[in-house]
Amino acid sequence: MRISVLTGAGISAESGLKTFRDSNGLWEGHDVMEVASPQGFAQNPELVLDFYNQRRRQLLEVEPNAAHLALASIEKSFDVSIITQNVDDLHERAGSTEVLHLHGELLKVRSTYDENLILDWREDLHLGDFCEHNSQLRPHIVWFGEAVPMIEEAIRKVEISEIIIIVGTSMQVYPAAGLIQYANPESQIYFVDPNPSLTSTDRIKVFSEKATAGVPKVIEEIKSF
Ligand code: APR
Repeated sequence: MRISVLTGAGISAESGLKTFRDSNGLWEGHDVMEVASPQGFAQNPELVLDFYNQRRRQLLEVEPNAAHLALASIEKSFDVSIITQNVDDLHERAGSTEVLHLHGELLKVRSTYDENLILDWREDLHLGDFCEHNSQLRPHIVWFGEAVPMIEEAIRKVEISEIIIIVGTSMQVYPAAGLIQYANPESQIYFVDPNPSLTSTDRIKVFSEKATAGVPKVIEEIKSF
């Protein structure tokens, strides 16, 4: 059985990483457009690099939680694709082997000259850190207004899945939020979020709870199929 899992910031909240929209649109005290848009980077690159340096350091101090681990564990029984809006690597560290990052990865940087030149990066990134073409490196993050190149692959995965599990996302940011429209009409959808933006229907079963409580319940149910 094929399962696609669509995750958002909520799945990493219990690991200690803040969500985006639970604090008045501020992300760690910043206006999101200031630190997560090409315009913001053009206006104040030092601030943006510093912001992601702090996020990267914080990521290296936290651990995957029971929800990440539970999703990794079902790979033994099912064909699982994780499609995440998160830029952290907590799914990978939990053991998931197929993880598609729609919005980029915090532990990678890329050239501002050649977007396909992507490097692993665990240290701070500074102005003056250049790629081999002598161009500034930037976080490998999809900022607001930028294309989401992985969306086509994500659509293909959703289309062929019998089960879709959505965890911890406000479903406000497109194209990720539109993925559910590509689900096969026969598929069953589960949604785990303490403040869910969908309501239960014949096809959608909502668990209004935190990821570490709700995800294991969804998995119990799937295993009984
Ligand atoms: N378990 C599950 N869900 C939780 C938890 C938890 N412990 N705590 C909070 N949530 C839920 C909230 O109820 C909310 O619905 O997580 C969701 C977080 O929503 P957002 O902050 O909007 O995060 P997300 O949906 O991932 O944002 C999408 O927006 O800023 C951009 O690119 C960024 O990838 C991000 C995208």
